[in-house]
Amino acid sequence: MEALQAGATDFLPKAPQSVEMTVRLRNLIQLGAAVRKLNDRAAHLASEVAAATRKLGEREEEIILRLALAVEYRDNDTGKHTLRVARYSRIIAEQLGLPARLCRDIYLAAPLHDVGKVAIPDNILLKPGRLTDDEMAVIRTHATIGEKILADSSCELIQLGAQIAAGHHERWDGAGYPNGLKADEIPVAARVVAVADVFDALTTRRPYKEPMPLDVARDYLVENQGRQFDPACVEAFLSRWDEVVGIAAGPVATPLPKSGATPAPFILGATGSRPDLDRTDEAAAV
Ligand SMILES: [Fe+2]
Ligand SMILES: [Fe+2]
Repeated sequence: MEALQAGATDFLPKAPQSVEMTVRLRNLIQLGAAVRKLNDRAAHLASEVAAATRKLGEREEEIILRLALAVEYRDNDTGKHTLRVARYSRIIAEQLGLPARLCRDIYLAAPLHDVGKVAIPDNILLKPGRLTDDEMAVIRTHATIGEKILADSSCELIQLGAQIAAGHHERWDGAGYPNGLKADEIPVAARVVAVADVFDALTTRRPYKEPMPLDVARDYLVENQGRQFDPACVEAFLSRWDEVVGIAAGPVATPLPKSGATPAPFILGATGSRPDLDRTDEAAAV
């Protein structure tokens, strides 16, 4: 009884007949082999499922980046803006103490914030110089259009992208667009990207303006926390200022896969003569 309780699967009476012993042993050996085979198969299947899941996740990320890249090409930019926005957003999300998975998802979905610009007519989106009020009203529709493009997805990452597209021009004080949401009514991912997006728009060169010095842009964020921006997001952003400076100054390497033909990925390739890449942010900021 003790042996059985300790895990023995069989036992033989004392002085077993040799034939009985042989048969019992053969059965046990076959049983052991079958169990090992089953375990091997289960482990193999588990590793295959894990690999397929990882592959799916990678494809999800790549498709999102390429969609964001397509939008940026309309703006004659090569993706540096969206990647910096993604990196700034990750810093903010991490410093806010959001769950690791959400930080990753905000990083991945942030590049979709301006996806609605695909629907803005060329004569407005590509117009050199300042926009009229009517033109600005058209360009502001990119938030709602972006949300529609990404809405109702069963993929959590795309759902987050829809929140970011819809809410990245909302303001903490409720004076933003498209819905005039205020404070916590604005999804946290959109509040995070709002800070990252405006900071990058301010600190990068446009044909009609020099880049704002980083310290001046930093002051702008501080002055406008609690008005334009969620104060917690601004504080989170500034708490890792050294990294922010590094991202602002550093090269932007493409996170796209290296293999295969990838024409003009994020850092390389086409340069455009297109002026301001996100003047909705300029307008919101200045
Ligand atoms: Fe925008
Ligand atoms: Fe932007």
